[in-house]
Amino acid sequence: MPTEPERVRWGVLSTANIGRKVVVPSIVASSNGVLTAVASREAARAEAYAAEFGGVRAHASYEALLADPEVDALYVPLPNALHEAWTVRALEAGKHVLCEKPLAPTAAACRRMGDAAAAHGRLLMEAFMYRFHPRTRAVARLVAEGAIGRARRLEAAFTFAVRRDDDVRLSAELAGGALLDVGCYTVDAARRTLGEEPVEAVAFATYGDSGVDVETVGLLRFPSGAVASVACALTLPRCEHLAVHGDAGRVEVDRAFVASHEALGYDVVDAAGAATRQPVDGVDQYRLMVEAFADRVLGRAVDAPASDAAEAARTVAAVEALAASARRGGAPVAVGR
Ligand SMILES: NC(=O)c1ccc[n+]([C@@H]2O[C@H](COP(=O)([O-])OP(=O)(O)OC[C@H]3O[C@@H](n4cnc5c(N)ncnc54)[C@H](OP(=O)(O)O)[C@@H]3O)[C@@H](O)[C@H]2O)c1
Repeated sequence: MPTEPERVRWGVLSTANIGRKVVVPSIVASSNGVLTAVASREAARAEAYAAEFGGVRAHASYEALLADPEVDALYVPLPNALHEAWTVRALEAGKHVLCEKPLAPTAAACRRMGDAAAAHGRLLMEAFMYRFHPRTRAVARLVAEGAIGRARRLEAAFTFAVRRDDDVRLSAELAGGALLDVGCYTVDAARRTLGEEPVEAVAFATYGDSGVDVETVGLLRFPSGAVASVACALTLPRCEHLAVHGDAGRVEVDRAFVASHEALGYDVVDAAGAATRQPVDGVDQYRLMVEAFADRVLGRAVDAPASDAAEAARTVAAVEALAASARRGGAPVAVGR
């Protein structure tokens, strides 16, 4: 009988920026994973990447990585439109998959990916790292416990300026656009922080030359009557903000999503306007995410949030409703289930 491996052997499917700069260094630093292989459409890119990390096998095609018997799990940071096809192929090849956010451009695709994971008995997780930050979890807990009374209004914004014309975010074919790239954070934060699912969306958007939305502002209505305003852009200076307003106070979170490793905090403001700063220790939220994934692969108990295909589908369904409303000039659209 083979003994259970102590460490998950990771392969990386593509030489994407987010992998090379952020997620793969966190895999290398993780306590329960080891970086084993990388694949690129171009052999030279895979080799340069493998050399950068050292002791890593380079594959000149994604198919070769899928066939590598010494890889247990794949990290998939492809452009959004390619997530489903390659994740399903990886699951069929017997690999566990950590796929970048948004898991897919449609809720239906997210569900198909979840079905494939179930059919092949493999783990599929969405790489939504901000969910794993202790501050994200603390703020959701505080709202759920009623520290600001009944939550009635939430504001979430994630904007930044794309610098290159050939950025995958500006490609309609690759499922770019502000809503799918960063709007998904604001929607995800709204539904997870309020602890309920939106039922209706309205939105207004500005579109770029390729047809993708480059700026979108929308509203999500929740069954309790709470309303979230969500804003995202690929054209504006960086802003990552979350605020939840209740009938007994509010909570404000700055730099809410791409947290660096330094200590952070959030502000709780009571009904009289008195603010208390709540400090949160610095962590590598990407490392917490990859360690939670690997622990789940290894069958260990994990105290970490759900980040599965069903969760992804719920967020993407609301993103789709916002996108549909914006295409119709702001007409209300029911959020699909
Ligand atoms: N969680 C986060 O903090 C975070 C941050 C940024 C991005 N992301 C997500 O990560 C994913 C990748 O984003 P990124 O900015 O890292 O992308 P990127 O640097 O443009 O990398 C995408 C990679 O996909 C491969 N690829 C395969 N077919 C392609 C095609 N037709 N066009 C372009 N590239 C193709 C390329 O690798 P090879 O040529 O080597 O095969 C390329 O390096 C997206 O889903 C994005 O939403 C997450």
